[in-house]
Amino acid sequence: MSKPTEIIVRSEHEYPVRFTDSWSSEVAQDVKRYEKSLFLVPKSLESTIDLTDIVREKDLIFYLPDAEAQKDISVVSKLWEIAGKMGLRRSDAIVGIGGGATTDLAGFVAATWLRGIDWYAVPTSLAGMVDAAIGGKTGINSPAGKNLIGSFHSPQKVIIDSSFLIGLSDRDFSAGLAEVIKTGFIGDRNILNLLSECRNLEGARAIIDELIFRSVTVKAKVVSADFKEGKLREILNYGHTLAHAIERRENYQLRHGEAVAIGLCYIAELSHLVAGLSDSELALHRSILERFNLPVTYQSSAFDELLGLMAGDKKSRAQGIRFVGLKRIEEPVWLESVSQADMRLAYERISS
Ligand code: GLY
Repeated sequence: MSKPTEIIVRSEHEYPVRFTDSWSSEVAQDVKRYEKSLFLVPKSLESTIDLTDIVREKDLIFYLPDAEAQKDISVVSKLWEIAGKMGLRRSDAIVGIGGGATTDLAGFVAATWLRGIDWYAVPTSLAGMVDAAIGGKTGINSPAGKNLIGSFHSPQKVIIDSSFLIGLSDRDFSAGLAEVIKTGFIGDRNILNLLSECRNLEGARAIIDELIFRSVTVKAKVVSADFKEGKLREILNYGHTLAHAIERRENYQLRHGEAVAIGLCYIAELSHLVAGLSDSELALHRSILERFNLPVTYQSSAFDELLGLMAGDKKSRAQGIRFVGLKRIEEPVWLESVSQADMRLAYERISS
């Protein structure tokens, strides 16, 4: 399909998610509106992100620690110091270029500096393009947990250039696909049809523009209807309740998407048990995730520990664990009072 140009998200303000073949010209054009900008890029991308034609005299580029290490209060504090020294004002901007951790951090610094300045998200990973950079959730980690400190602060624009993905490892590409697959189950069966026609990861790489466009369309629609996560936005957490518990148990050594893949298989089993998800739609979860080399099982002995972790998840409620399940494809449902026996039975079916 030919590349679409943009999707509008409606949150505390309206902003476009722009699809482009040239992220740098787009960014160069945008930052002209500001007197100066602070560019945030992870160190690992220093040699691949060329900002020479974009950065002007008063701008500054700061290279961040890699991965989750950048989502730390010490980094935020350093960036506040830099923002102060460069005299970053409300009429200036922050540009975050990197994976989900970078856009989460850039948005958080933009939300907190001077009670909120403009920022731009340029996601470079698949997970960032289809999930983290869309929807205005910004934040950092702390000893109390992942993403517990944050703010809803939408960017002025999200700029998606899928050519970044050429350099993305197969492992990271697959992990991003887990979020695409999740989106297919909750909101767009065409995503699942397209992926079912792919023989392998290369096949998915070949149609990635359409997969990203479709995923962003679903996310933009959900976020525009429920920006602050009153309830509807929770559907984006399909598969995430067990996934968050697994990530914590693994000390975040698994990719988020890998934990989500296991979580999707689990919630499909649970939905089959208590919400009437059909045999074939249940089976589709496992087959589609396996096709893209994603994990679909987890250790049988871990259930009790995971149950404790799920009960402590920030997304669960005082009354107990609330899952987002699936009645059928594109029909998510809330599962509010699932018995422990059913939770265990579903877990046995994904146990290795
Ligand atoms: N990643 C889930 C959300 O943005 O709400």
